[in-house]
Amino acid sequence: TILVLDFGGQYNQLIARRVRECNVYCEVFPYNISIEKIKEIAPVGIIFTGGPNSVYIEDSPKCDKAIFELGIPVLGICYGIQTMAHVLGGTVATPDNREYGKTETYYNTNCKLFEGLPEKGVSWMSHTDYVSQLPEGFEVTAHTELTPVAAMQNVDKKLYGVQFHPEVLHTENGIAMLNNFLNKVCQVKGDWTMGDYAVTAVNQIREKVGNGKVLLALSGGVDSSVCAALLAKAIGNQLTCIFVDHGCMRKNEGDEVQAAFSKWDINFVRVNAQERFLSRLAGVTEPEQKRKIIGEEFIRVFEDEAKKVGKVDFLAQGTIYPDVIESGVGDAAVIKSHHNVGGLPDFVDFKEIIEPLRLLFKDEVRKLGQELGLSETLVWRQPFPGPGLAIRVIGEITKEKLDVLRDADFIFRDELAKAGIAKDINQYFAVLTNMRSVGVMGDTRTYDYTLALRAVTTTDFMTADWARIPYDVLEAASVRIVNEVRHINRICYDITSKPPATIEWE
Ligand code: XMP
Repeated sequence: TILVLDFGGQYNQLIARRVRECNVYCEVFPYNISIEKIKEIAPVGIIFTGGPNSVYIEDSPKCDKAIFELGIPVLGICYGIQTMAHVLGGTVATPDNREYGKTETYYNTNCKLFEGLPEKGVSWMSHTDYVSQLPEGFEVTAHTELTPVAAMQNVDKKLYGVQFHPEVLHTENGIAMLNNFLNKVCQVKGDWTMGDYAVTAVNQIREKVGNGKVLLALSGGVDSSVCAALLAKAIGNQLTCIFVDHGCMRKNEGDEVQAAFSKWDINFVRVNAQERFLSRLAGVTEPEQKRKIIGEEFIRVFEDEAKKVGKVDFLAQGTIYPDVIESGVGDAAVIKSHHNVGGLPDFVDFKEIIEPLRLLFKDEVRKLGQELGLSETLVWRQPFPGPGLAIRVIGEITKEKLDVLRDADFIFRDELAKAGIAKDINQYFAVLTNMRSVGVMGDTRTYDYTLALRAVTTTDFMTADWARIPYDVLEAASVRIVNEVRHINRICYDITSKPPATIEWE
């Protein structure tokens, strides 16, 4: 085990994720974990994360000096190097000129961290203070123009520190540096896999749940599906999954989700609530109101079903790490009120929430899903908004419009898959605009709907670029859609990025 000690920085889980990428198991603990607990865990190495504080602020987090006496290798990152230097008798100062962002850095490649790597490269800096005087027994192993101690080491005590952030991709060879720390300093082999993660998670769930009952709201998305699979493996029929079909799913989706989960030995409940949702949405055109109605109705339907299950001990949620970060951002402006199957708590009678994916990033969740034997279609499902097609039918929603959109959307996705480019595009779908225009089909005038096709590439969905889909693929989709789907006589391709547009149209 590698122990990552959290000093409050923004990249804490990213560090943990990088360690996992190096195929080494790690756990994140608060910085003030007791020495006894560390001894009990007996990690092969410890990493201090960054943090927003200055070591000179009175109640800023300080590490326990005794950590350095354990003989366990330590790597301090950013605030981590500062607290290490401070506690061991060095000096931390606030320079006149701050370094921020990509910074040219010079490395001593005799240092184990930088062994086999170039002597010069860009590193990512984000700090106010720096180490101005080394603690006794340390030497400098990297510097930049403004930061004399960009890295330091005490080889005998196996203590290392870096002022920059090796976990951030902007740092060239940053992951190789972490790998060097793990392999060359901590001497771990790096043979841990997501399969091992599944085993550990299953055991932890069993231990926590005992013979209690667990309830999960299953949306069919990647996160809730992997969460369900993990729980199914751990506790079988102590798990009840409620899948609310609000009638705004894509073509065949409800049946696919049902098929995927009915074969497990769990209690799977599908609620066909289409009518209920459609009648509440009748006549509603305003996007935020649609979202609100669906969110509320979802909770009501779920509540009704949950009552039938009776008292449960745990409510499970497929929260993943990026959700944790986003919900932590307090004052960000509400662009759209997101409906996630996540936020359901108060009304269900349960003791505790369990979130077995809380520490994982999306691609890790996918890997875990594969390990658990979920189908490719489920594991690689693109993100789908909670309100579903309701926010892709612009204007009033009717069953007929939803059906038209479902068929058109299916063809678009099918053509992208046939062209072999689906996996390169992060999200793609059709939108039924509320606009009608004149066309001609077989010498007859038509007056029908305009369909928009949307496809974007993105890494974080906060910004996105419209996908450069080859013209012949667009053409194939266009021809098929107008021929096979009634009531569509015109098709546009959305060529706006985010910002200024958003990915969804509502
Ligand atoms: P926008 O349209 O805001 O979408 O650029 C960004 C990403 O979020 C998805 N999205 C949602 N996901 N509940 C969700 O779970 C929602 O209510 C919701 N609305 C948008 C959207 O599909 C895109 O991937």
